[in-house]
Amino acid sequence: MSKPITDFDVNNLDPFEALVWQFEMGADEAIADEPLDRFKASESLRQNAANRPGFGANAGTNPQRPAGASARPAQAAGTGPAPMPAGADGGFLLSDTPHEARQSARDAAAAANSLEELKAAIEKFEGCALKKSASNTVFGTGSVEAKLVLVGEAPGAEEDRQGLPFVGPSGKLLDAMLRSIGLAREEVYITNILPWRPPGNRQPTTAEVAVCEPFVRRHLELIGPKVVVCLGGSSAKTLMEEDRGITRLRGTWKEVAFADGKKADLTAMFHPAYLLRTPEQKRLAWRDLRAIAQKL
Ligand code: URA
Repeated sequence: MSKPITDFDVNNLDPFEALVWQFEMGADEAIADEPLDRFKASESLRQNAANRPGFGANAGTNPQRPAGASARPAQAAGTGPAPMPAGADGGFLLSDTPHEARQSARDAAAAANSLEELKAAIEKFEGCALKKSASNTVFGTGSVEAKLVLVGEAPGAEEDRQGLPFVGPSGKLLDAMLRSIGLAREEVYITNILPWRPPGNRQPTTAEVAVCEPFVRRHLELIGPKVVVCLGGSSAKTLMEEDRGITRLRGTWKEVAFADGKKADLTAMFHPAYLLRTPEQKRLAWRDLRAIAQKL
């Protein structure tokens, strides 16, 4: 256990303590081969921005870019937080706006006529920078004829290492939950909203989810299950198209219609990782599992 940060003497940092502290804060993956001096990068970006029309003193006057859009006027004027380096902009390549990236994900997803083609399309997709820091693309696992598909949020450390969804501690609990309603992992299909692990298991950004959503929708369409279960809030909000949190959404049912006209019953339940931290909520999870078994 590292010392509390307030005890650090910044002029005399023990490198090991500093590393342990970073690890505990969730910075547990190296995402580039070389260290990056972000202070230097932000100074040169600020200077470039000041020299470009529509930024700096003129920020917000460009009719092509509404005030408050991605120009980040406060940063360009040097008053806001440092601009992020390329590739760190909420997980997107800066050359690709989320809108363009989402459209290209839509096109790639729609063109995939089988799970193999969809997997290849995701592996080829360059519109989400999470792919750069991930060790593997985590596509999905289970029976392609499954009546039940479970959709989590994003791969964790173990999933990223193995390239398979739900193989870490929350996967073990998920297996036990499925067994409790008489289902084996091999009989269902399991995937995630995002196919790449966010560094340090941080929560995916709205933009990352928006870009990858067409892939998970096509994934469901190609399997054509009877029931889709969202595991956790990110998955539930995305697939149920709701702003409400998981506490409100769990146990509720909706119908989801796919582009090809097929329909499935859609519900949500607590994420197994949350249940591991909050075992008293397993009572509600058990209720949700019984409802799912009945629907099947
Ligand atoms: N949590 C998720 O949401 N998905 C996984 O695959 C693993 C953990």
